[in-house]
Amino acid sequence: MKVMVLNGPNLGRLDLRDSQVYGDMDFAALRTFITSSAAELALDVDIRQSDSETELISWLHEAADSGQPVIFNPAAFTHYSYAIRDAVDMLKAPVIEVHLSNPLAREEFRHTSVISGVVNGTIGGFGPDSYRLALIALKAIL
Ligand code: DQA
Repeated sequence: MKVMVLNGPNLGRLDLRDSQVYGDMDFAALRTFITSSAAELALDVDIRQSDSETELISWLHEAADSGQPVIFNPAAFTHYSYAIRDAVDMLKAPVIEVHLSNPLAREEFRHTSVISGVVNGTIGGFGPDSYRLALIALKAIL
């Protein structure tokens, strides 16, 4: 079974974001890192990124319908999208929220996650390793 690894807005432009916060990997390198981390754990991944709330919700519906596990970085939608929260809440298989940065150590508006209450767990603050740790956690749950 493939793990869906979903990424929200602006993560496709990591090369243009603050490298002090997000590190030096662009999205293509992050994709390669996640794929090889998954392979080491004998997991298959389907990595997607979208800036569109609608598209992310349709992918969450797809994961709910197929019973696929999800690793999800909702990016800025983390902090205010009730529509995405409701879609995450429909997932049947495990779902882990990830962040490259540690939102709790940043601006106050990032301290709220409307997603955390409907996921199995949240991993943030470890850069690309947040995804690798999420894959390890997911494998343990599965
Ligand atoms: C992020 C943290 C969010 O606050 C921010 O809006 C992002 C990325 C992270 O991975 O650290 O776009 O989800």
